[in-house]
Amino acid sequence: MNIAIDGPAGAGKSTIAKRLAAKIGFVYLDTGAMYRAVALKMHNENIPLDDAAEAERILQETSVVVRYEDGTQKILLDGVDVSDAIREHFVSQAASAVSALPCVRLKMVELQRAAARDANVILDGRDIGTFVLPDAERKFFLTASIEERAKRRYEELCAKGATCSLEAIREDIRVRDYNDTHRTLAPLRKAEDAVEIDTTAMSVEQVVESMMWYIEE
Ligand code: DC
Repeated sequence: MNIAIDGPAGAGKSTIAKRLAAKIGFVYLDTGAMYRAVALKMHNENIPLDDAAEAERILQETSVVVRYEDGTQKILLDGVDVSDAIREHFVSQAASAVSALPCVRLKMVELQRAAARDANVILDGRDIGTFVLPDAERKFFLTASIEERAKRRYEELCAKGATCSLEAIREDIRVRDYNDTHRTLAPLRKAEDAVEIDTTAMSVEQVVESMMWYIEE
């Protein structure tokens, strides 16, 4: 069985997917981390983020591997653990840009489908219910107001000791929302058969509980 969770940046997808996966014993796959790894590679190689030909070339010599250590997902880029590096602020915008390149998407989607074939998996991303796994048994689309999403991200970064401005985070999310919904291939969109949950005024527990209800049904 596969569960698809899509939605815009900062809607709480990964926190919720992790909790849900632990609760029902599924493997959790954060597909955004894969695009982030490719973006990091292009950045490290000084490749412009919209250079499709160079991206295609570099992808042939790039390995993106997802591994689990004590239930935690680790992302290996060419054998190196980049799980922390891909969370850097600049990587978020870069991932949004490179994910619009069809050659990047098609390679990542292939890896995601392969992971979903072999196990009970919860995948979170932007196009899981519409493109990666259109036949997923359960689909969810999580949203929240942009103010709430920016506030959550701000609090998360402050808790890690980072200095950031709420205004800059809101703008970052707005730009990513625009890019992710306006790309040509597999844009961010709610699948027709997905259950939409507006998490603006909900706690993580409430969201998980409501998703459990749909899963058990
Ligand atoms: O979920 P995230 O913030 O880690 O994702 C980073 C970027 O990757 C996001 O802005 C768009 C892209 N992405 C995508 O296009 N498709 C996915 N399934 C997951 C992420």
